[in-house]
Amino acid sequence: MDIICLPTEMTSWSNRMIAKGKSIALAPTMGYFHKGHLSLMKMAAEKADAVVVSLFVNPIQFGPNEDFERYPRDLERDAELARQEHVDVLFAPEQEAMYPQRPKTKVVVEELTAGLCGAARPGHFAGVTTVVAKLFNIVKPGMAVFGQKDFQQLSVIRQMVRDLNWDIEIIGHPIVREEDGLAMSSRNIYLSPDERQKALCLHKAIQLAQKKVRQQGVNEVSALLQEVRTFLGSFVGVDIEYVSIVDSDGLAEQNTVDQHSVLAMAVRVGKTRLIDNAFLFEN
Ligand code: PAJ
Repeated sequence: MDIICLPTEMTSWSNRMIAKGKSIALAPTMGYFHKGHLSLMKMAAEKADAVVVSLFVNPIQFGPNEDFERYPRDLERDAELARQEHVDVLFAPEQEAMYPQRPKTKVVVEELTAGLCGAARPGHFAGVTTVVAKLFNIVKPGMAVFGQKDFQQLSVIRQMVRDLNWDIEIIGHPIVREEDGLAMSSRNIYLSPDERQKALCLHKAIQLAQKKVRQQGVNEVSALLQEVRTFLGSFVGVDIEYVSIVDSDGLAEQNTVDQHSVLAMAVRVGKTRLIDNAFLFEN
C-alpha cells in the first residue's frame, strides 16, 4: 500500500491507473478506523480494480464549538488496518495541502441540508460537500462508497453528484454495528463505560419503532415520534437533538409511515453527539 500525502501525486497515481484501464473506488474517511470503515474498504475492493482510502480530518465541516481538535487521530494504526484490507493507496494529506489558503469556493447542496443534522450544525454539510468535491477531483474515482450511518450525508452527496454531472457511481453501505447494536463510530471512544451503556438507547429506539410499525401496525408518524421521544427521554444523561421520520428520497418529513420511511435521530450522551437511523419497514 502506498501512503500519498500530496494531491498532485495522488492525481498522477490515478491518471496512471486510468491510463491502464483500471477502475478506482474511493472511500473517503476522517480516520480512526473501526469495522464500519473497514467494511467500506472491503466493498470498494469487491467493486473496483484499485481502492483509494482518503484520511483527512476536514476542519471546514466542524463548527467552532465542535470536536475538531480532539477528534481521534492515529495514522500508524490506520495505515496498518488499511494495509490488511488490501487498500492500494491511503491518501492522507496535511491540512495545508488541502487548503493552502482559506477556500473562496464552496459546494453547497440546498434543501436536503436544511433539516436533521444540518439544522443543528450550520455549515457542516457545505464543509462535507466541498471536501468531497475536492477529493473527487483529486482522486478521479469511478465509484465512491459512503455509509448509511450518515444517511443525510449520503443523500446530499448523491444529489451533488447528480447536480454537477459527475460520472461517479455512489455506493451506499449498510450500517455496521457492535454486537449489542451500537452503530460503530470513531466518536464512540469518547464514551465512559456508563455512557457506552446509555448509548444503546438509539438502537433500542429503532427496535421499538420498528416493532410498533411492523407488528402493531402503527403508521401515524406523530404517535411514533412521541413514543420514541418518551423512550429516549427516560435515559438520564441523554439529550435529544432531533428525532424525525423522513422520506428516504427527499428527506421530507412525513405524516404517515410508508416503505420509504426512515427514522433518524441525533442525541447527546454526556458531551458526545451520536446519530443513528433505520428504515421502519424492511428495506
Ligand atoms: P467518517 O465519519 O470517518 O466516515 C467515513 C465513512 O464511513 C462515511 O461514509 C461514513 O458514513 C462511514 N461510516 C462511519 N461509521 C459507519 C458505520 N458504523 N457503518 C457504516 N458506515 C460507517 O463521514 C465522514 O467521515 C466525513 O464526513 C467525510 C465523508 C470523510 C468527509 O470529510
